[in-house]
Amino acid sequence: MRARNNLEAPNRVLGKRPSAAVRGRKVAAGCGASTSKMARKAVAWGFFGLWVTAMTSSAPAADSAEAPASTVHPQLWPSPTWPFATDPALEARVQAIVKTLTLEEKIGQVVQADIASVTPEEARKYHLGSILNGGNSGPGGDDLAPAPKWLALADQFYAASIDKSGGRAGIPLMWGTDAIHGHSNIIGATLFPQNVGLGAMRDPALIEKIAAATAVEVRTTGMEWTFAPTVAVPQDVRWGRAYEGYSEDPAVVASYTGVFVRGLQGEPGAHDFLRSPHVLATTKHFLADGGTDQGHDQGDARIPETALRDIHAAGYPPALAAGVQTVMASFSSWNGVKLAGHHGLLTDVLKNRMNFGGFVVSDWNAHGQIPGCTTTSCPQAINAGLDMYMAPDSWRGLYESLLDQARKGIVPQARLDDAVTRILRVKVRMGLFEAGPPSKRPLGGRFDLLGSREHRALARTAVRESLVLLKNQDGLLPLKAGQKVLIAGDGADHIAKQCGGWTLTWQGAGLPNTVFPGATSIGQGLRAAVTAAGGQVELAVDGKYRTRPDVAIVVFGENPYAEFQGDLAYLQLRDGNDGHLEIMRRLRAAKIPVVAVFLSGRPLWMNRELNAANAFVAAWLPGSEGAGIADVLLRKPDGSIAYDFHGRLSFSWPRLAVYDAHKSGQPGYNPLFPLGYGLRYGQQGDLPPLPEESGADGASDQNGVLFSNGKLGSAWRLSYTDERGGVQPISLVPSTVAAGRVRVTRIDRSTQEDTLRFEWLGSGLAGVQLDSRQPFDFSRETNGDVALVLDMRVNKVPTAQVEVGMACAEPRCAGSVRLDSALSRVPAGSWQRVAIPLKCFANTGADMQRITTGVSMRTAGSLDVAISRVALGTESDHVVACAR
Ligand code: BGC
Ligand code: BGC
Repeated sequence: MRARNNLEAPNRVLGKRPSAAVRGRKVAAGCGASTSKMARKAVAWGFFGLWVTAMTSSAPAADSAEAPASTVHPQLWPSPTWPFATDPALEARVQAIVKTLTLEEKIGQVVQADIASVTPEEARKYHLGSILNGGNSGPGGDDLAPAPKWLALADQFYAASIDKSGGRAGIPLMWGTDAIHGHSNIIGATLFPQNVGLGAMRDPALIEKIAAATAVEVRTTGMEWTFAPTVAVPQDVRWGRAYEGYSEDPAVVASYTGVFVRGLQGEPGAHDFLRSPHVLATTKHFLADGGTDQGHDQGDARIPETALRDIHAAGYPPALAAGVQTVMASFSSWNGVKLAGHHGLLTDVLKNRMNFGGFVVSDWNAHGQIPGCTTTSCPQAINAGLDMYMAPDSWRGLYESLLDQARKGIVPQARLDDAVTRILRVKVRMGLFEAGPPSKRPLGGRFDLLGSREHRALARTAVRESLVLLKNQDGLLPLKAGQKVLIAGDGADHIAKQCGGWTLTWQGAGLPNTVFPGATSIGQGLRAAVTAAGGQVELAVDGKYRTRPDVAIVVFGENPYAEFQGDLAYLQLRDGNDGHLEIMRRLRAAKIPVVAVFLSGRPLWMNRELNAANAFVAAWLPGSEGAGIADVLLRKPDGSIAYDFHGRLSFSWPRLAVYDAHKSGQPGYNPLFPLGYGLRYGQQGDLPPLPEESGADGASDQNGVLFSNGKLGSAWRLSYTDERGGVQPISLVPSTVAAGRVRVTRIDRSTQEDTLRFEWLGSGLAGVQLDSRQPFDFSRETNGDVALVLDMRVNKVPTAQVEVGMACAEPRCAGSVRLDSALSRVPAGSWQRVAIPLKCFANTGADMQRITTGVSMRTAGSLDVAISRVALGTESDHVVACAR
């Protein structure tokens, strides 16, 4: 048996990089993959004639022995037509502006700040070219601020930016937002299915309408730019962002990206191109964000150039041909080189070979990950071809350093001018100089269009089309009208769960139905449809019915997550997320037929559920219009079928919870359900019993869970420290350690002995901590505003200073936060989630890239606390304030 540690996200453990031999094998396997794909693509891209010729010419081999693995060969890449001929009037206008700009004004144009960290006055003072709202940012610090507040803030930033006093150039700024499944940061917006569901529709015409509706909603709140579409081609769905991709099949992705961009931006050359009702689009994340080793978010794609081009770049030529105005450079690396600093890919390939005439924006502080850079200083990025830095909280330092680097010539004048020119070209092209304040533009303030009936109908159509039927024993579906229907499972009436990440907040977790006005939960939709057709409904999340039903619908699945927080070691639901299985088995045993409705951002190992249910529907993350499910599941009262299933898998469905690298078209490809699979009504939908061994030799640990359900995360050990600072393991619980200072016992919170209780008796400095022998890299989490969250109950408030810390093995590498005042303020005797932002530890000296002490708690006084969970997260009841 393989050691569990080796499988669990080994990538984030330092010093455990695969050997060159292993890497070599991977690359070779990738090569095979790309050759078979290449033939397909040659047809799909035939119209970019140049590329086909290049492939057959005697150009140097992409992975020739001499070239470093991350060297590009631009001549091997497609060369799509950028749909704008040089426009002398536009060029003259842009040049005239650039000539008048001061160096400060030029630097300002290439810096983008987040509204959580910049005021309109600062944006004016620093001449910022752009702002964004990150997933957790909102007007006045309120993520859930109503639409008019967003528009008012847009007006304030706009007004500040155009101030021409004192000879300022007064260039209007642009506001970028992640409208990734609808205008998904805004309360009341239409929330379309996430991309994984849209991929299952195989309906480019509908995709264009969805994009157009999204653009309209974005305009109502005053923004003019969305960081969408994601054109990733996820190859390993352990990746926490797999749901942001349409498909593992490059052809499906390519069939969507051009139309999506056209829906958002309009038709190049048309009078309303990039103007209201349209917005700027971004294709992201360039490149191979979906090709990283083990699906590790922000990781390294160790693949040959041909795979980069044929698989991961597939979405770009159609998007470029549609005139996409911005491209976002990926957080990730290609063969060890960070994309945000990759001259070959950003400049030689994207701009020079692929004719991209817009501008390249970086991802959230991604430039800080380039070797030699920090978030506040990184000339390497602009010199590699980046045009705008997304510097959410680091913008001021970055502005200062860029100014200095430009003065010293470290950033050449010509490169800076080119970046500014590219940005201004877009601003001129979109009519920003003439647009006036956001609220005065055609759709500004038209909040009636936000979540409008028409847009919701479109989303509901998309929900219907995206559902994939995987099992339908004895034709159980569609359900007859007039039956007694039980609706169960924790997804039955849970709108946030059906929406997934990037919904109102970054992670999208923990939001009540009340923050989704106008939306419909799946259960509400079913209830309305069943009762309208003369049936009866009982909704019981735990499946415990009062009236025996004729049939049960169990809605369950993944809880929301975004980015690396969704990375998995195994393709299975996370720990503590399988109550649904018990419900399904119980109903089955009572001879009640079960329809499983699975909510997820990706296919997961579902053999047990497929066995337990009579019918199984993959519903992905359908968004705000849960009624689309009932549309397909229920017959009309006259017995006819209202809507047949339409969706087909855009990702292969795994046979085991262990990742299988074989892809469609390759020998050895043997998924449970292949790419393109999906039953229709009337087709035989029985399945033989499936084996219930997952192949995973451990629980699917959530990354960053140190302690939960009474168990320590696999890497973590419990220890204590005494007055002299010595660290000793605590191998036995209950026990009293540190010369009688600390008593450790197990108590029950929800289940037997799931909680540790620590009592500090007597006096003298002593502590307890969780240590790992391997260092963990928590730098992504720190950049992403993640916190260390302790689920705790204070039994006795502290009598002295309490310090919570994180540390690495080396000396002088510890950071800590005082917790005593927080512990004295949280209500004693009740369970609370106390969050300590990781930035607090970083700011006080911890090197977040090599953490070995995941948490320590020390005091010289007395204290009594119970702790049921220690994990990295973003949900809490109290956030501890820390020194900046
Ligand atoms: C994500 C991007 C997103 C940006 C702004 C980043 O962390 O990777 O996809 O557009 O944040 O929120
Ligand atoms: C922001 C997201 C961003 C992420 C980066 C979060 O705090 O809200 O927009 O994508 O950090 O990791």
